[in-house]
Amino acid sequence: MIRIAGIETSCDETAVGIVEEGRTVLSNAVASSLAQHGPYGGVIPEIAARAHVESIWDVFALALDEARLAPQELDAIAVTQGPGLPGALRIGLAFAKGLALALDRPLIPVDHLAAHLYAAEMTDSALTPPYVGLVVSGGHTLLCVAHPECRFELLGETKDDAVGEAFDKVAKLLGLGYPGGPVIDRLSGEVTAPSVKFPRSATKQPFDFSFSGLKTAVYLYVQKVAQGSRLKAQGDGLQPSAFSLEQAVIADIAASFQEAAVEILVTKALRACQRTGIRQLAVGGGVASNRRLRARLAEAGAEHKLHVVFPPPVLCVDNGAMVAGIGYPLLQRGRVAALSITSDSNLCLV
Ligand code: KG4
Ligand code: ZN
Repeated sequence: MIRIAGIETSCDETAVGIVEEGRTVLSNAVASSLAQHGPYGGVIPEIAARAHVESIWDVFALALDEARLAPQELDAIAVTQGPGLPGALRIGLAFAKGLALALDRPLIPVDHLAAHLYAAEMTDSALTPPYVGLVVSGGHTLLCVAHPECRFELLGETKDDAVGEAFDKVAKLLGLGYPGGPVIDRLSGEVTAPSVKFPRSATKQPFDFSFSGLKTAVYLYVQKVAQGSRLKAQGDGLQPSAFSLEQAVIADIAASFQEAAVEILVTKALRACQRTGIRQLAVGGGVASNRRLRARLAEAGAEHKLHVVFPPPVLCVDNGAMVAGIGYPLLQRGRVAALSITSDSNLCLV
C-alpha cells in the first residue's frame, strides 16, 4: 500500500492530505486564512504566506494524527508546484523538501489544476482518461482534454477574469462580502425565476471564456437600479449603490448573474465534448461546488448521454488530498523531482 502526503499552499488554504493508492483518503486537514482576508475583499499574498508559515506544521501533524500514521510510514511527498501565489507556493515547497530530505522519500511536484481534475477521478473510479476537464476556480477557468499518462491538452481558457473571481467581484459590488461564490450560490437558491438577462459574452475562440463583460453589465445594472431607488427615496441620503437596494432585488441580481455565468460554462463544456467526441466530463475547482452549475451539467449530461463527474465540495475547494491523490499516478510514472526544484506560479497543465 503506497501512502502519499500531499501539501497544498497555493492560495489561502494551508492543506495536507494523506491518500492511499491514489484513491483512499486517510486524512484531509486544512487551515484557512480566509477570515483574515475578508476585510480586504480578496486574498492578500503577504497575509496568506505568513499564515502558511504559522500553521503548516500543525496541519501536517493533524493529517498524520487523523490518518493514524507516523511520518516514517509515508512513502512519498507530493506538493503543489504551481500555479498560485509565489510566496505561498514557496512555503509549501520548502516544507515538502524538508520532509522528503528528512524521511528520505521521493518528492513529487504537482500541477494544482491537474490535481483539481484528479479529484474527480478519486470520486468516481469509472472516470478514466481521456476525458474533457473543466477547471473553474478563483484563479482559473479552462477547458482541456485529460489524456492517459497525466498529460493534458489545453482547449481554451479565460481571456480576462476567472469565473470564481467574477463571483467574488459581483458579490463585493452587491455588498455580500468575501468570498462571494458561496453567498451568491445560497442567495440564488431563494430566487425561482431570475429576471435580468445579462449578456453571455462571446469569444473569438470557441473554448475560451470571458467574464469581464458580464461583470461590467452587472455593475451598470446595479448603478441604474440604485439610482432609481435613490430618486424614489427623494434625497434621503442613500448612495446610488447596491447597499440601498432591497434584499429581494439583490438576490435577483445575484441569481441572474449566476444564471449567465453557469450558462457560459455549460455551453462551452458541452461544445468541447461534442467537438472532441469524448463522452466524459470532469469538473474541478472551487466553483465546481456551485449548486446551479452541478444541476445544469447533470441535466445536460443526462440529455446528451455524457458521464459528468463532480467531486464532493470538500474535494472541490483547495485541499491536500487531491495533491496526494495525483501523486500516486505521477510516482508510478517516475515523475519525481530533485530537491533543487523551484515553484512556478504560472504553471498551467504541463
Ligand atoms: O479552487 P479554489 O478553492 O481556489 C482557487 O484555486 O482559486 O476556488 C475558490 C473560488 C472563489 O472564487 C470562490 O468564490 C469560489 O471558488 N466558490 C464558489 C462556490 N464555492 C466557492 N463559486 C460559486 N459557487 C460556490 N458554491
Ligand atoms: Zn484551486
